[in-house]
Amino acid sequence: MRFLRFVGLLSLGVCAAGIGARAESLPQLVQGKSGRTLLVDGKPYFVLGAQVHNSSGWPATLESAWPDLERIHANTIMVPAYWEAVEPARGQFDFANIDAAIDGARQHGLRIALLWFGTWKNGGMAYVPAWVKENPQEYPPMLDENGNAINALSPLSETNLAADRDAFAALMRHLRDKDGERHTVIMVQVENEAGSLGSDRDYSKAANSAFQNGVPDIVVTSLKKQHGSWQQVFGADAPEAFSAYYVARYIGQVAEAGKRAYPLPTYVNVWPREQPGLLRPGFSSPSGGAVSWLLDMWKQVAPAVDVIGPDNYDTNFMLFRMICDRYARADNPLLIPETGTSPAHARHAFYAIADYNSIGISVFGVDGNAPRGKAVDRESETAINYRLIGAVIPQLLSMRDEGHLHAAVEEDGIANPQMLFDNYDAVARFGTVSNVYGGDRGAGNPEIDGRVLVGQLGTDEFLVLGSHANVVFQPKLGDTKKQAVVVSVEEGSYENGVWKRTRLLNGDETYFGLILPREGAMLRVKLMRR
Ligand code: DGJ
Repeated sequence: MRFLRFVGLLSLGVCAAGIGARAESLPQLVQGKSGRTLLVDGKPYFVLGAQVHNSSGWPATLESAWPDLERIHANTIMVPAYWEAVEPARGQFDFANIDAAIDGARQHGLRIALLWFGTWKNGGMAYVPAWVKENPQEYPPMLDENGNAINALSPLSETNLAADRDAFAALMRHLRDKDGERHTVIMVQVENEAGSLGSDRDYSKAANSAFQNGVPDIVVTSLKKQHGSWQQVFGADAPEAFSAYYVARYIGQVAEAGKRAYPLPTYVNVWPREQPGLLRPGFSSPSGGAVSWLLDMWKQVAPAVDVIGPDNYDTNFMLFRMICDRYARADNPLLIPETGTSPAHARHAFYAIADYNSIGISVFGVDGNAPRGKAVDRESETAINYRLIGAVIPQLLSMRDEGHLHAAVEEDGIANPQMLFDNYDAVARFGTVSNVYGGDRGAGNPEIDGRVLVGQLGTDEFLVLGSHANVVFQPKLGDTKKQAVVVSVEEGSYENGVWKRTRLLNGDETYFGLILPREGAMLRVKLMRR
């Protein structure tokens, strides 16, 4: 067995012709042993993200957001770049907000994922500049079935595309000039939850005529369909498939123009189609986004988009995991651009890290500038996660690459999940442990908030971290040795990659299992099989 070996990473080849920064040092996605990995300054990076409220990307509001980000130990701020503020008049640019975000992030030791609120924001056109909104002749909105304009730009319009593309390219040029050496901005989200709400597709004259045409080859081949009209090929799903093709084409071209200026990793976030209730794309979720059944098509039509990430707010673990399953693919590392701050969300982050080779996760709405005075997420479950995980990212990613990292997560009725390693089996018991038929079992925490990550550091050595749990090991089922004797338990954390022990745990603190209190702990455990 080989442990803690950093994997040789094969660069996918970033073309940075004409940029001020050295291409090899730019943030980039590379092929690692267990999937695509994000490198920042040449080192594996995991996004512990925090997104500010929609209207907080301004110097005045950012000022009060920094302490909130520090309080939850985020390493990356997700902050919007508003098209309406970046280009208040056609061709005139103002990057003051962006510069304030970059300067502030540097002062606070954070990286940035910049969110381009351009043509799309939650299935609408809220952030397009006034000169676009007020000029529908030149920048046509979508029409619904009755011929009424809806609050979304038409993805079939070349003028809409050219305006957004030019603005985004200008933004990326600015990032290159301001940040090409420092890489404070590590990735850019192109648009936000794209697609339309209010209609399942564009019913303009141009769109109706395109809808009658044959489905383009790239759609047929990527989705393994037969040729025919949209209606013939997709039936009831035709409007959504049609919209998705034109939205993917549009966003692919915006992303490509931006990357030509400055080739940072790009991603889109998705409002998943998997919504509770009646499924009516265009009403229950935006029609045209990169929903899971259209992912193969999106990947081929928009290759300049590196990652397609689901906004995964599901508090039910089956649904949360189903969405992760659908987006975590060899050609699409899992990035969760938005999730919530509840205990369920904090638990589920552990699945994303250990089970889906995720490159990052980000909680939404962490600053105190909430629209309706929502309570700020203070010493929260998210803060515990980020504090623990932030200290051991390289170690966790390296163990994950070797298949030596597992999660155990409490769910309603699931209080004793197992983790299976090469030579040991481990169990996390959640809640009060008592001896019942079948052995010692946890009864479950009343708050259902337990979560554990266990990584194997060496043949008989493990890193155990998490909250509200009690972990015990045994030699693997079938081993001739039946006991896992605890040799030593160190409590501590990593500082700049070096383990710092705060104390040795023993006696009452280990006799009943390795206890991770609610406020979280990290342990290094040496075992012996006997
Ligand atoms: C998802 C959007 O992408 C965010 O910008 C924000 O509007 C949240 N929903 C609010 O829950």
